[in-house]
Amino acid sequence: MKILAFETTCDETSAAVMTGQALRSNVVFSQIKLHRKYSGVVPELASRAHLEKIPFVLSGALGAAGIKLPLKQGAVDAVAFSRGPGLPGALLVGRVAAETAAELSGAPLIGVNHLEGHLLACEFENGRAVRRLEFPLAALIVSGGHTEIWHARGYGDYKVMGRTRDDAAGEAFDKVAKLLGLPYPGGPEVEKWARRAEGHGPVFPRPFMAGTWDFSFSGLKTAVSYYLAKKTGASTHDLPAAEKALVCRAFQDAAVETLVKKTADAARALGLKRIAVGGGVSSNGALRGAFGALEGFEVRFSHRSFCSDNAAMIALCALRRLEAGKFANSLRVAPDLARPGWKTKG
Ligand code: KG4
Ligand code: ZN
Repeated sequence: MKILAFETTCDETSAAVMTGQALRSNVVFSQIKLHRKYSGVVPELASRAHLEKIPFVLSGALGAAGIKLPLKQGAVDAVAFSRGPGLPGALLVGRVAAETAAELSGAPLIGVNHLEGHLLACEFENGRAVRRLEFPLAALIVSGGHTEIWHARGYGDYKVMGRTRDDAAGEAFDKVAKLLGLPYPGGPEVEKWARRAEGHGPVFPRPFMAGTWDFSFSGLKTAVSYYLAKKTGASTHDLPAAEKALVCRAFQDAAVETLVKKTADAARALGLKRIAVGGGVSSNGALRGAFGALEGFEVRFSHRSFCSDNAAMIALCALRRLEAGKFANSLRVAPDLARPGWKTKG
C-alpha cells in the first residue's frame, strides 16, 4: 500500500510517501522566512508560496520514494491531503495538487482532518508508524491555530471535551513574543528565553482552571501586555534581557500549567490513563517535562520533528482509515472542496 500525501493548511508546504507502515519520504518547505517580517502568517502570501513550492516538495517526496514523474496509473494506491481546518486559499492548493495526482494515478482521494494528523504523528518512530496509540485516551491538540482536548475512543472516533474560546496556545506564544520584540514563530523563542530566567519574576493568571475544559489564552496575553506597559511604558524593546527572560518564563509557566492540569483533569474525569499530545506547541520542553512528571498517566508525544505541520502525519491518517475499511471515494463529487473551519464534534 503506497500513499502519497499533501499538507498545505497554514505555512508549511509538504508532501510525503508511505509504503505500508514505513515512511519513505517527508519533504517540508517552511514559509517562516516569508512571514517573519509580518510577525504572523499572511494568508494570501501563504497561498502563493504553496502554489510555488508544491511541485518541488512533490518531486522531492516522490523521488526519495523511488516513484517517477509524471505519475502513471497505479503509481500510488491512495492520495491524501489535509482537507481542513486551515487557511481557505492554502487548503485549495493542496486539494488541487492531490486531486491531480489522484486523477493521474487512478488512486482514490482521501481528505484528512489536519488535527487528527497531529495526534497520529505520535506513532512515528525511526521512520515507521509502529508505535500504535492505544485507545481510549485523552488527546491534547495544541498548535498555532487550535487548542483542544479530545476523548479519543479509536482511530477517527474523537469527541471534543474542550477547546479554546479565543486564542490558541501557540497563538498566545506568538503574540507574547511579538510584544517582547522576539521574532516569529514566537513559541521556540519564548522557550529559549524562558530557559535563561533566573530568580523571581512576575506571576501571570491561569484562566479557566476549574469548571470547564475549555481554554482561554487571550486574558493571559493581555496580562503580559499590561505588565509590560507598566514596566516599560511604550517600548518593550528596551526591556533588559534578564527581565525579558523572566516574563517569558512566567508566561510559559502559566500556559503549561493550564494545558497540563486541564488535560489531566479531563482524563481523570473520563477514567482514562493515557494521554497523547500533538501539534506545534507540543515540541515545548517545559510542556513535555510537565506532562512527563504527571503521576498515574502514560503520556505520548510525537518526535519533535513531527510536531509541526508535515504531510507524513496526513499519509498516516489515510493509512489508518484504509486499514479500517472506513473509506468511500466520494470526495470527487463533494461540494465543499476544502473545510477551512472543520470542527471535530463536541
Ligand atoms: O502545529 P503547527 O506547526 O501549526 C499549526 O497547525 O498551527 O504549530 C505552530 C505553532 C506556532 O504558534 C509556534 O509558535 C508554536 O506552534 N510552537 C511552539 C514551540 N514550537 C512551535 N510553542 C511553544 N514552544 C515551542 N517550542
Ligand atoms: Zn498544525
